[in-house]
Amino acid sequence: MEKTLLILKPDAVQRRLMGKIISRFEEKGFQIIGLKMIQISETLARKHYGVHEGKDFFEPLVRYTTSAPVIVIALKGKNAVEISRKMMGATFGSKAEPGTIRGDYAVSNRFNLIHGSDSPASAEKEIGIFFQKEELFEYAPVDLQWVYDMSTGDIV
Ligand code: RTP
Ligand code: MG
Repeated sequence: MEKTLLILKPDAVQRRLMGKIISRFEEKGFQIIGLKMIQISETLARKHYGVHEGKDFFEPLVRYTTSAPVIVIALKGKNAVEISRKMMGATFGSKAEPGTIRGDYAVSNRFNLIHGSDSPASAEKEIGIFFQKEELFEYAPVDLQWVYDMSTGDIV
């Protein structure tokens, strides 16, 4: 089982899309193991998007990320990183396919509603940055054996 970090960005909160977006991940079969509303500080925004430092969209991105509260979610499931990114859609709302979160709800190339870790390694790092240990929960979802075929000993 893999973990990933999602951030419902300021526009998702302001546009009252939190519930709809969270529902998609729940309905897919993923397990939420941590969830909270926070205000991202400028320092944290610069760190989180550090790979983009120096690019022309970096400063607007920092302003966007810090402009209102966000929801941070630690999500668990098989291939959670890759599947979540597929569910989010392409980076630009204008390019994202219908059926994806960005494709259905975003048209902007910057205000694109959601962040998802881009690899298992970044997921582990990002979850560590955004969550304290005691804010992450280990619990057995009662329907897990209906979300996956676990009858062979593998998770299929
Ligand atoms: P994220 O990191 O937020 O999950 O998004 P991503 O991987 O799909 O896209 P990335 O390339 O990492 O870009 C980070 C965020 O910066 C904003 N952006 N603006 N050309 C632009 O104006 C531009 N390009 C990217 C978006 O908010 C994007 O999600
Ligand atoms: Mg990215």
